[in-house]
Amino acid sequence: MSLSPAIRTAIAQAAAHHGGPKAAMLEALKLVQEAEGWVSDAHLKEAAEALGVTTAEIDSLATFYSQIFRSPVGDTVILLCDGLSCFLCGGDAVRDAVMSRLGIGFGETTPDGKFTLINICCVGGCDLAPVALVGPERKLVGPLTADDLDALIGGAR
Ligand code: FES
Repeated sequence: MSLSPAIRTAIAQAAAHHGGPKAAMLEALKLVQEAEGWVSDAHLKEAAEALGVTTAEIDSLATFYSQIFRSPVGDTVILLCDGLSCFLCGGDAVRDAVMSRLGIGFGETTPDGKFTLINICCVGGCDLAPVALVGPERKLVGPLTADDLDALIGGAR
């Protein structure tokens, strides 16, 4: 399905607001993802057309940011930090616990479509390490223990 006229208009407005098409590419990707849940090849092409940039230009940005999803994701996305501070503060134990609990690895979605697990680099929350960003609002949670994240997942099920 094509992007709605409202999203196309919002993308055009973003170009005017952010100082030009290239400066608005990330905002355009966010708009598409908010509307569709992820950024498909077809929608990426439409966003590029709406901005007047090439598909390659906007795709290079989309693939750079781990928070832009280029494949379908589950209802709740867990972005688990695997940066150095989080690793040193026990992030590997949290990672192992959540993978065991969900039965998936990084970049995968549970068979019921409820959770997607993605690894991200440092999100600037090192003082709360280990951390994750959870759900559509990207809520920063930490410092996490394996039990905390297990409870968080359990509460969402
Ligand atoms: S290393 Fe995880 S928030 Fe900085």
